[in-house]
This record gives sequence, structure tokens and C-alpha cells, in this order.
Amino acid sequence: MRRHLFNVQRLTFNISIWLVLGGLIFTVFSSPLLAAPPAQAPDTPPSVSGGRALWTENCQPCHGPTGQGDGPASQNIPDPLPNFSDPKTAWQHIPAENFNVIKNGRVEKLMPPWGNRLSDAQIWDLTAYVWNLSVKPAELAAGETLYTEKCAACHGSSGSGDGPEASANMVSFTDLAVMTQRSQVELQANFKAGPEHASLNTLSEQEISQVLNYVRSFSFTVPQRDGILKGQVINATTNKPQGNIPVTLRIFEGNNEVEHMTTQADSTGNYTFEKLPTDHSILYAVEGRYKDISYLSDQPGLFTPDSTETTLNLNVYETTTSAEAINVKQLHYLISFTPDAVNVVQIFVVGNQGKHTYVGTNGQTFPFKLPQNAQNVIFENDPTGMRFVEADDGYVDTEPITPGEDSVTIVAAYKVPLADSLDIEVPLPADIASANVLMQDQGAKLNSPQLQFVEKREFQGDSFSIYNAANLKKDQDLVLQLTDLNKLAFAAAPAGPGAVATASGGLNQDHLRWTIVGLGGVMILLVALGYPYLRPQLTHQPATEEDSSMRRQKLLLLLARLDKAFEAGELDKRIYHRARAKYKAELMQLMEG
Ligand code: HEC
Ligand code: HEC
Repeated sequence: MRRHLFNVQRLTFNISIWLVLGGLIFTVFSSPLLAAPPAQAPDTPPSVSGGRALWTENCQPCHGPTGQGDGPASQNIPDPLPNFSDPKTAWQHIPAENFNVIKNGRVEKLMPPWGNRLSDAQIWDLTAYVWNLSVKPAELAAGETLYTEKCAACHGSSGSGDGPEASANMVSFTDLAVMTQRSQVELQANFKAGPEHASLNTLSEQEISQVLNYVRSFSFTVPQRDGILKGQVINATTNKPQGNIPVTLRIFEGNNEVEHMTTQADSTGNYTFEKLPTDHSILYAVEGRYKDISYLSDQPGLFTPDSTETTLNLNVYETTTSAEAINVKQLHYLISFTPDAVNVVQIFVVGNQGKHTYVGTNGQTFPFKLPQNAQNVIFENDPTGMRFVEADDGYVDTEPITPGEDSVTIVAAYKVPLADSLDIEVPLPADIASANVLMQDQGAKLNSPQLQFVEKREFQGDSFSIYNAANLKKDQDLVLQLTDLNKLAFAAAPAGPGAVATASGGLNQDHLRWTIVGLGGVMILLVALGYPYLRPQLTHQPATEEDSSMRRQKLLLLLARLDKAFEAGELDKRIYHRARAKYKAELMQLMEG
């Protein structure tokens, strides 16, 4: 079954094969007798942050997001890939050798050369990034403390060998020509061999490794960690601080959760996290559990360019079993066609206007049905496969519904087998303020007693017809009548959001993810274009202390970062959806007012 599916992994694999072939050709045409010139030391310290985006784009498909060698394309490589996150491996690596491998490749082992597409400076940044994959930020912080106490007197606080007790010919840890030729293992051996270090023999192996990783940071710049994030847990049902609960700070760097830290909020609900990276690519989320329900901060936190302090509060709520505050604001439909089926992605956006988290009865919160002729149903954002329970010829969501406009998003994808004409009847679980249908223009016609045609629009190279309906009533069916299905035309090389399903008859999780990403893009465009029916309701937010241009800058940054992280498919969807809607609404309010 999976074999038939167009999938992202295969696509990535094709790309890597192409790269490998490209590399082979490159190697064949450059003289095989000329050994690659040795790495030239870089002029300026390579930067870990500089390598991040390059890594995501070029290396992650094989080496994996955290360098463990588990990227999707690694499945097609016979030998196991190195695990860069394992200090044992990383400590053997000589930076200049890694530079050479990255630049010239090891084509026979399927490691492509990058020298023909990346500059030396970029390859150095990647070398620094690869080193950093084995280093935990907390260890670097511990290493810094040790260094200041035990090493700076001779080696100097900047590592250049100019401390008050320095001897005549100290090596400078900032000397790139030297440091790029030393592996961590070699630094360790030299450290242990040096008689001037005899008095330091009380250091444990772990401490030595921490301090030597810190020593490396004199030649490879690592992101600064001087950020402080403060916040308060507020019980938003009672509007009082909620003290004494453990809170976790989750740190997303680029596309991945790279770290988390846990602390206890004090009796007034206040918490502080320190020594945080303040890079642009980093987003923070605070998570806490209250009465067995886990809550995430309504928006992610970040540091604005010139500040090292930021605030991120966490709301928690009392629970209720009364569904009266639950509503469905929006229903979105994306329809595309394959030769054997109509492919549908259906999204209910469920909100809670109350001040309590709705927990339902027996943990079941939101019942809904899918059209009777739906097949191959899969749900997005259901990693355990247990979120949606089958019941009463439909499904029930088990996610608690926290207060908010769009606290739960139910995304189902399914196929309806093709006939010359067919009806898709969507039973409505609640009154729905607005329904939007985007149908890819492939020759079919859509009629519906409820929907009105709005217009045609191009998205990412595909043409879509947009329809809208307002104020649909619960227990009605939204009826989509599809005709002219015998006139469908299929492009040879599908592209764009609607095409996700057209390359094959099936859908899988990767597939769906791309559909959502594509659809998300479309929806975001619509909102940006000011379609009134898609505009989030602007709630008047309490004035913040930040002045509005500052806030605007922050929001724009946040949105850009959020999208990037989400497009890579790694950012927690709960954070993404909530945050995006909120920022967008706030941003528009700022722009208008
Ligand atoms: C097509 C898959 C693929 C891609 C893409 C890829 N690599 Fe590799 N890489 C490999 C394989 C396979 C090896 C192991 C080679 C070997 O066994 O010696 C490797 C080895 C390496 C090594 C040497 C490790 C060692 O133990 O000596 C480094 C460093 C490296 N890759 C960095 C990168 C960087 C940086 C990128 C992105 C610019 C990248 N790789 C992209 C497959 C890939
Ligand atoms: C009493 C002065 C002194 C102190 C304290 C000291 N060092 Fe050194 N260190 C030296 C001298 C002298 C050398 C040898 C000359 C050179 O290579 O710079 C050296 C060499 C080294 C080297 C080898 C560099 C290379 O060439 O590979 C490392 C690594 C090192 N020290 C790390 C440390 C660390 C880490 C600490 C603290 C835990 C420390 N040193 C504390 C004086 C000191």
C-alpha cells in the first residue's frame, strides 16, 4: 500500500541521488589525480547559527535534524551514517577534516561534495554546526563557569592566552589555524599531558569535557545565552495566580525542539528561566499541567533583537463538563482530484468561548460525522492514533477544548471514489459561522444549495475556485454536488498544494502534512488579501506596555519564524495554529489602528 504513495521521503531521496550523481560527474571531470587542497583556515570564526539554515536545507535529509544519521534519505544509504550527536564520535572529528569531507564529499560512500554549491565560509559554518550537534547548551554553560575559575588565569578570559599568569608561548584558543587542526580528543590529550595542568587533576572526566567544549567556543561562535524569560501561571477561570505547579520551557531552534528546562512556579505563580539563547531562529513555549490537562502558552516567546529579557505567561483553567461555550467557527474544505477519486481535506476549527476547559463526558469532547461515502480516512495531528474514537457512525474527539477562538483543529483527509457525478454530504456537528471551499480547477463543476461562488484564484501555480457559505445550521448537511467528473484533466507533473494528492490514489501522513502546509499557505494568503469571511474576529486585547511599532516588528518576526518552523513540519501544531491566528489578528489590529 505505502509503495504506491507519492511521498516526501522518496522525493528527498530523488534529490539526494541527483546530488550524488551531480557530485560524481563533478569528481569525474575534475582531475582524479589532483588531491583536494587541504582546508584553508577560515578568516573569521565559523558560526554555529550561520550553519543552521544550510544544515536544514542540505544535510538534514540524510543526517537528520539532530545529526543522528536518521534523515529520511538515510534509509536508502547502505552503510550507517555517523552520529554527530554522539560525543564519542564528535570528539574524534578534526574540524579541518570535516571541512574537507563536506567540501569534497566521500562520493563512494554517498556523501555528496558541496564545494561546487557552497562557499568555504558556508562550509566552515556547517563544520561548526556539526560540532555543536554533540554539545548540550547546559554543558557549555558549566564549562564556562569552570573555565573562568580554573583556566582564565593563564589562558585569559577571551582564550587568547593573555591571562595574568600566562607563560611566554601560550597557544591562543582563538587561533583558527591551530584550532581547526585539533580534535577535541587531541585537546584533551594535550591538556592532560601539560605539566602546568598538574594542579587541575581533581577535575572529573565530565568536567574536562565540558570545559574543553567551552574552549572550542573561542574559535566556533555559539549563540549567546544571556536571555531571561519570566512569566506567571494565571488561572484564567478565577483570574488569580496559580502557584506551585511545575512548568516546562520548550525551546525550538529552527524546526526542532532542541532543549527543555523545567522549574517550579513559586506560590504566586511566577517563574524565571535563565541562560537562554536569544537567537532569531529560536521560539519558546511554556507548558504546564493543571488538573491533569496540559496547557501551552497562547503564543510562543522570543527575544527581540536588542533585548535579553522577555515575558511569556501561561494560562490554565478550571474544567467543565458543560458544552455550552463550545462553537465551530469555521469549516474549510480543500478538494482536488485523482483519476480514481476525489480527495478531500476537511478542517473543523472548534472554539470555546467560556472560561473553563471543556473536558466532555468520559473524556469525549467533540462528536462529528464524515460523509457516508468517505474512504481511507486519516486524521492529522493524531500521533498515537488514539485521539479520535469511532462512535455512532461517526467519530468523537478526545482532546480537551481549552478556551480560545480556535483551540482545537480537527483535520480529516479522505477520498470519495469517482463517479460521473457525485454528492458529498457533510453532516454539520454544530452551527457554523463560515464555511469555505477551495476546489482545484481540473474541469469538474461544483454546485451546492448553500455555497456561493466567490472567485477563481491562482495559488502556487494552481487555479482554485473559491466558494463560501455563512451561518450553516447544526444537523443540516452541507451538500457538495460534483458534476462533469468525466471531464477531469490531470497535469503530468503535479505541483502546488492541490497536487499533493494527485500523484497517486492515496494519502499518507507525509502527504497530508504537505496538503496542510499548502492549504495553510492558501488560507494565510486569503486572510492577508482581506477576505472578510476568513478574517479572524478581532478581539480587543488589553493594551500592552510595548509600543505598537515594536510590537508590530515582533509580530512580523514571529509570523515569519512560525511559518518556517511549521513548514518544515516539526513545530507543534497546537502552538502553530493558535499562535498564527492570534498574531495575525493582533497585527491587523495594529495596522488598522
Ligand atoms: C545523500 C546523503 C547525504 C547528504 C545530503 C549529506 N551527507 Fe554527509 N555523509 C553522508 C554519508 C553517507 C556519510 C558517511 C560517509 C562515510 O561513511 O565515510 C557522510 C559523512 C559526512 C561527514 C563526515 C563524518 C565522518 O565521520 O567523517 C560530514 C562532516 C558530513 N557528512 C557533513 C555533511 C554536511 C554538512 C552536509 C550538508 C551540507 C551533508 N553531510 C550532506 C551522506 C550525506
Ligand atoms: C598555570 C597556567 C595554566 C592554567 C591554570 C591552565 N593552563 Fe592550559 N596550558 C597552559 C600552558 C602553559 C599550556 C601549554 C602551552 C600551550 O600549548 O599553550 C597549556 C595548554 C593547554 C591546552 C593544549 C592546547 C593545544 O595546543 O592543544 C589545552 C587544551 C589547555 N591548556 C586547556 C586548559 C584548560 C581547559 C584549563 C582549565 C581547566 C587550563 N588549560 C588551565 C597553562 C595553563
